[in-house]
Amino acid sequence: MERAKLLSELNERERARLSSLSAEKGDCASPVFGDGDINADIVFIGEAPGANEVQMGKPFVGKAGLQLDHMLTVCEIERKALYVTNAVKYRTWTCTEMGSVKRAKNRTPSLAEIRDSAPMLKEELAIISPKVIVTLGNTPLKALEYISGDNLGSIGELHGKPYLLKGMSAVLFPLYHPASGIYNRSLLPVMEDDLHKLKELQIMED
Ligand code: URA
Repeated sequence: MERAKLLSELNERERARLSSLSAEKGDCASPVFGDGDINADIVFIGEAPGANEVQMGKPFVGKAGLQLDHMLTVCEIERKALYVTNAVKYRTWTCTEMGSVKRAKNRTPSLAEIRDSAPMLKEELAIISPKVIVTLGNTPLKALEYISGDNLGSIGELHGKPYLLKGMSAVLFPLYHPASGIYNRSLLPVMEDDLHKLKELQIMED
């Protein structure tokens, strides 16, 4: 079966799974699925969509999209040559209520949410079958641990180094999440250096 059909069936299965989850945990009724070139050699995996992504129905739009585009400019990869997805396909949130006012605040997906979303990501990667998988931050790294059974460690140890995952043909290249540099500016030169290394890896893979 062709990739587009396989992906659309997979997305519908995930949508059905999410429809049974509690709205307390996240916006499970509005999942955001992967986007971009389904024949891409390189896949970028983020954490989970935010409010802008839910509104637009695409990963990495708005502020996060601009941050990703900046990273892509540094490593000289065109966004249209990528497939971009998230480890968890729904916006995970914490809800607070004050009187009749309800507010939802983004939160990092829990380990259980990453684990429960991993079978979907595993199938998605098998369908796209990229040569390089770039993870952004700790959440997608954790997801790949669940998928491969490898004990990977944290982004602080793994960033900027290619890694061969157990039972997978793609090379894993972990990067810090694009938002990390905003919270910790001392990471910016390290992040930039990692992007130059990714550019070198891309040249080798071509
Ligand atoms: N938007 C996404 O789609 N993923 C992230 O990890 C952050 C913002």
